[in-house]
Amino acid sequence: MHPPHLCKVFIMQFREIGVVGTGLVGLGWAVVFARTGLNVRMYDCEAPVLAAAHGRLSKMLEEMEQHELIEDPTVVLGRIAVAKSLGEAVGDADYVQESVFERVDVKHGISRDIGTLIRNDAVVGSSSSGIPASAFTADIPNRERFLIAHPVNPPHLIPLVELVPSPWTDPAIAPALRVWFKATGQSPIVVNREIEGFVLNRLQGALLNEAWALYDEGIASIDDIDRCVSDGLGLRWSFMGPFETIDLNAPGGIVDYAARLGPLYHALANSRHAPQSWSPELIARVTAERRASQPEGALLERMNWRDRELMTLARHRLAR
Ligand code: NAI
Repeated sequence: MHPPHLCKVFIMQFREIGVVGTGLVGLGWAVVFARTGLNVRMYDCEAPVLAAAHGRLSKMLEEMEQHELIEDPTVVLGRIAVAKSLGEAVGDADYVQESVFERVDVKHGISRDIGTLIRNDAVVGSSSSGIPASAFTADIPNRERFLIAHPVNPPHLIPLVELVPSPWTDPAIAPALRVWFKATGQSPIVVNREIEGFVLNRLQGALLNEAWALYDEGIASIDDIDRCVSDGLGLRWSFMGPFETIDLNAPGGIVDYAARLGPLYHALANSRHAPQSWSPELIARVTAERRASQPEGALLERMNWRDRELMTLARHRLAR
């Protein structure tokens, strides 16, 4: 642990934020930072994507206002500037959030460039979904300033952030960043050491892999498997995790639950010794069944529906 004053110094100094990559996740990050009063400069190597960013942000912010999640979209948007170059986005930044493609070569190239351009007291978080920072920062300048800051999509509506330091990340950074992210309204966790997929996608992966396997074996339809989460497990999971769930699901708490159902879960784990990849044939079957109820052309509107549902949920959680 590091002295609290060190964390305070970090929090006090973070005013200027660089956002690199303005796709789905980068834009959400721009909103996260700007809504708390920080100045954001964003950059994307695709000029048309960058040119469209303010328009997309404006729409996102208007919807947030309608859901009473922000007060004045114009003020928030006014804090977000478009940078003409990577240097302009990150050169003066106290904190940089990188959200480019999930590929080691792309992450490595952009991290090397960012490492060359940042101040040596800046911090760089990568949105990487599962590639650990050590896979792409080993040989770059200022590598001790880099770590993973993995969000959930979209980051302005789902607060969790996984902070995952590499073996060479300055050990003061993750605890300080945890305090700072909390102050921005996010919900940070620290992953103690690197592991592929970190915590969140390992949990999601366990569920997803089981869902594919159950479908492949003909146990239930796509819609029925989905509803086990949307009308079942997910209702509890929207406000508590698996450990708290089982602590409350037996009169005697975790010990009691483990005595009653531990053997069942052990048997289930034992029944999946040979995990299968998601084969092209299986993907085609799942896609066909899903497309029967959600045609491809309707997916964008369904994403917007998801975000409106998340905004309603975020508003509900704020009011608690
Ligand atoms: P995206 O494809 O929507 O956006 C990526 C953006 O990065 C594009 O606009 C692209 O032009 C830009 N880009 C690529 N190379 C660049 C470079 N060298 N310099 C500047 N800009 C560059 O992807 P998305 O979904 O936003 O993902 C970004 C990162 O966030 C990935 O690491 C991904 O794994 C992670 N992530 C994605 C989540 C999701 O559900 N989509 C959730 C959590 C993390």
